[in-house]
Amino acid sequence: MEKEIVLSGIRPTGFLHLGNYFGAMRNYVRMQDEYNCYFFVANWHSLTTHPDTKTLQESVLRVVAENIACGLDPEKVSLYVQSDVPEIAELYLYLNMLAYKGELEKTTSFKDKVRMQPENVNAGLLTYPVLQAADILIHRAVKVPVGKDQEQNLEMARNFAERFNHRYGETFPLPYAFNYNSELVKIMGLDGNGKMSKSENQMTTLFLADEDEMIRKKVMKAKTDQGPLTPNSVKPDYIQNLFTLMGLVSTADTVKKFEDDFSNSTEGNCIIRYGDMKKQLAEDMVNFINPIRSKAADLQNNKELLFKIIHQGADKARASASATLTIVRNAVGMNY
Ligand code: TRP
Repeated sequence: MEKEIVLSGIRPTGFLHLGNYFGAMRNYVRMQDEYNCYFFVANWHSLTTHPDTKTLQESVLRVVAENIACGLDPEKVSLYVQSDVPEIAELYLYLNMLAYKGELEKTTSFKDKVRMQPENVNAGLLTYPVLQAADILIHRAVKVPVGKDQEQNLEMARNFAERFNHRYGETFPLPYAFNYNSELVKIMGLDGNGKMSKSENQMTTLFLADEDEMIRKKVMKAKTDQGPLTPNSVKPDYIQNLFTLMGLVSTADTVKKFEDDFSNSTEGNCIIRYGDMKKQLAEDMVNFINPIRSKAADLQNNKELLFKIIHQGADKARASASATLTIVRNAVGMNY
């Protein structure tokens, strides 16, 4: 049986962090054996916010290096950069004829951007979901591993696909968001405020590029309190988050020891020592992040290899993309 097609896009903004790893990349790595996977860096999408193009190029290469360091195997998946696959732009053009101004203006991400950058409400921003649909449909992907915030874009991709099929004949299967549900771990910032994120306070986010000392410093500064003063207390969010992190990077025995210390605390006798817990977590975190950071750094220092990898990814992606485009051109009567 043919493997199902999985596709996801990664925006090349900022550095990847632990939340990205456990929320997305770890799942991609798991999917690469089971599915026919396409993963790409969405550099056209990032032009909608007019970034500095020099740092954009650096970010694209870093994201590729970090994804490989996390375990994506360019021999197993197609790992490419969006702008290396011009077929996507042509499909975007056809899909634009099926996307209506009213529905595009109503999307949440567009409205957010209008609020955030009222001086730059460009047409690329408005048609962001159309380009995203082209990314997906160009490989006729059916499973799209993305977070909750992308549901609306996926629904629009299905609408455009359906409209295309209806007007020009059955061409695209409908794509759906997809995850190994039980494993979507939510990681909060180390201050317990909201999700770990690239843009908020950098001291409360653990980046895959952080040096060992920086990791220790951040973990040791993580928010705690005086500790539980009754047996089996309910953990506040920020404490639960430390346990969640420990569950991801420490051994089961270590987690159990601190869980027991937490539960066994009694009135006036707090057994758990958060200082010790954070020290242990810091070391386990260093051991987790360090090999990823070094592998990513080695790759970034080997531009020749990185370029070879993305060119090979682009070749694979273009083979699939041009096959779809042939069908699409036939369907819309552009086959001269
Ligand atoms: N919009 C996605 C994000 O913000 C990135 C993206 C672009 C994407 N094209 C895609 C995700 C296609 C999945 C499929 O994260």
